[in-house]
Amino acid sequence: MDKIFYVTTPIYYVNASPHIGHAYTTIVADVMARYHRMNGYRTFFLTGTDEHGDKIAEAARKAGVTPKEYADGISGQFRALWPELSVTNDYFIRTTDENHIKTVKSILQDVYDKGDIYFGSYEGYYCVGCERFYMEKELVDGKCPDHQTEPEYRKESNYFFRMGKYQDWLIRYIQDHPDFIRPERYRNEALAFLREPLEDLCISRPKSRLTWGITLPFDENYVTYVWFDALINYITGIGYPGGENFPVFWPAAQHLIAKDILKPHGIYWPTMLKAAGIEPYRHLNVHGYWNVDQSKMSKSLGNVVKPLELKDKYGLDAFRYFLLRDMVFGLDSSFSEESFVQRTNADLANDLGNLVSRVIAMTVKYFDGKVPASSQTEPIDQALIDTAKRVIREAGAAFEELAFHKTLMAIWELIGTANKYIVEQEPWNLARNPDRRERLGTLLYHLLETLRTVAVLITPFMPGTGAKILGQLGIEEIDRQDYTTIAGWGGLPAGRSLKPGPTLFPRIELKKETLAPPPPPKAEIPPVKPEIEFADFEKVDLRVAVILKAEPVPKSNKLLKLLIDIGEERTIVAGISKAYKPEELIGKKVVVVANLKPTKLMGVESRGMILATDAADTLTVLTFDREPEAGGRVR
Ligand code: MSP
Repeated sequence: MDKIFYVTTPIYYVNASPHIGHAYTTIVADVMARYHRMNGYRTFFLTGTDEHGDKIAEAARKAGVTPKEYADGISGQFRALWPELSVTNDYFIRTTDENHIKTVKSILQDVYDKGDIYFGSYEGYYCVGCERFYMEKELVDGKCPDHQTEPEYRKESNYFFRMGKYQDWLIRYIQDHPDFIRPERYRNEALAFLREPLEDLCISRPKSRLTWGITLPFDENYVTYVWFDALINYITGIGYPGGENFPVFWPAAQHLIAKDILKPHGIYWPTMLKAAGIEPYRHLNVHGYWNVDQSKMSKSLGNVVKPLELKDKYGLDAFRYFLLRDMVFGLDSSFSEESFVQRTNADLANDLGNLVSRVIAMTVKYFDGKVPASSQTEPIDQALIDTAKRVIREAGAAFEELAFHKTLMAIWELIGTANKYIVEQEPWNLARNPDRRERLGTLLYHLLETLRTVAVLITPFMPGTGAKILGQLGIEEIDRQDYTTIAGWGGLPAGRSLKPGPTLFPRIELKKETLAPPPPPKAEIPPVKPEIEFADFEKVDLRVAVILKAEPVPKSNKLLKLLIDIGEERTIVAGISKAYKPEELIGKKVVVVANLKPTKLMGVESRGMILATDAADTLTVLTFDREPEAGGRVR
């Protein structure tokens, strides 16, 4: 198979400055691009900004400038940020670029000529924040569930894309390509959307209301709906239709997004491509959300985390490491400066930093700073080499599954093994005995080789640190080293002079001007109930359930009606609507008591009960940190 890799980030809206969420997706894309480049893939990495639509027009109006002036400013902030975070995108696309606009128009014309775009009228609730119409039942207390604002009621004649026509095709495509949308929970979520009839998509806005957009090629009184314009960036960014990069990279396309924009990417985009006669992308990789100190990040809460501030305070590689190590790809994570500082001190200053400084310092002290020769190996040396080889394999395998935290855990296992090897072998004692000089040299040789291996493995994540360690080992150029073959023990020639450098990660103190709000008071812990027999416990049949559908129970402010799959489909009613929005639950795997006697709640029959804890100040349902099959037993 050709070694081709193409990764994209969402193109970010230019109505707000970049924050940690944007930085996370873009740094993940960068780590993936660097990893593939190192492994000899021809790689293309695309990011950019999404500049049309109501949202931007409104922000510009408030700022008293034209939309283009406004877009130029914030797009410039994104563009300038990426090099500061060592992001190596190959291109930065803007939806206001001439060639993008031209291609959007030509695709619209093609789809129109084919009969897949028609003129019709529509009325409904429209949320400007989301740039979309909502069905009444999707609103929570009459408000948009994402923005908590009341949508506007709009009635308009507009152009529609016959998305519904492609529903069956898309369901089949997702079913036939199990890794099209991943991790699996988001594939389930997309399939859950597709259980409802797929409505046609309104793809225009009348110029009487909005002029900031791409004029429809077949009706100059309308501009294009911002999503129909924005998604196309993924192909215009590699030169579609005529450019030579398009046929090379498109078959390998991997999109990276967070769960907020699953629907446009998992539903609109594949059907748009199908209508335009273009093959679907290869993978949609969906990650969770960064919250901050357990709360949603928002301007009004004043808890927006700015990537540059963290970088300037604590260093770029510590920031990149934390983001990739602390989030399990696909699940939500909570950022706090305390945990960031703790992790940096433990993993970087202690484990990695100490290993590097001890090994280099001992080589300087005992061998005049020159790589010693390795002579006869002992079983403990072989054990270190075996660990290194296994770690390289495991780190690579985890990477392919997007389990970046596991890749890093594997690398840290090797670092831990090397630190233990030093403690057990006590090189400082060997140094006192001139007869053990050869053994001392062998020991340091293996440690230096371990450093070389670690340095290459961490390079996609922490490019600066990887290069610094290799620099200390006298290796300047790591480009084109293959991530999977660096294990060839013996890469360091004996006699080479090391170039000792400063400490990689000095221990850091929490420097917090903006102290986090105090943690919520602890809920009272209820006493443990009287003991029961194991046989009694065994009567409870707990199962893995996938939530397929979720909607509020009318007139109830607590209850949600859930359609679940536990090997069979069932309806249950759960009192969790204060803690979860319906759409947040779809695709989640939870634990359900499957053999509870059915009961009726507010007129709806419930066959089972979801497990949740109220130990935080809100309800939290139990989920899994892997992806078990629906219906599996829980014991
Ligand atoms: N312009 C659209 C995307 C169009 S793509 C054809 C858009 N822009 S956005 O500025 O709102 O960016 C959303 C994306 O930013 C998320 O999908 C994710 O990649 C990133 N994040 C924004 N906030 C985030 C968190 N709190 N946590 C993690 N990533 C999040 O949607």
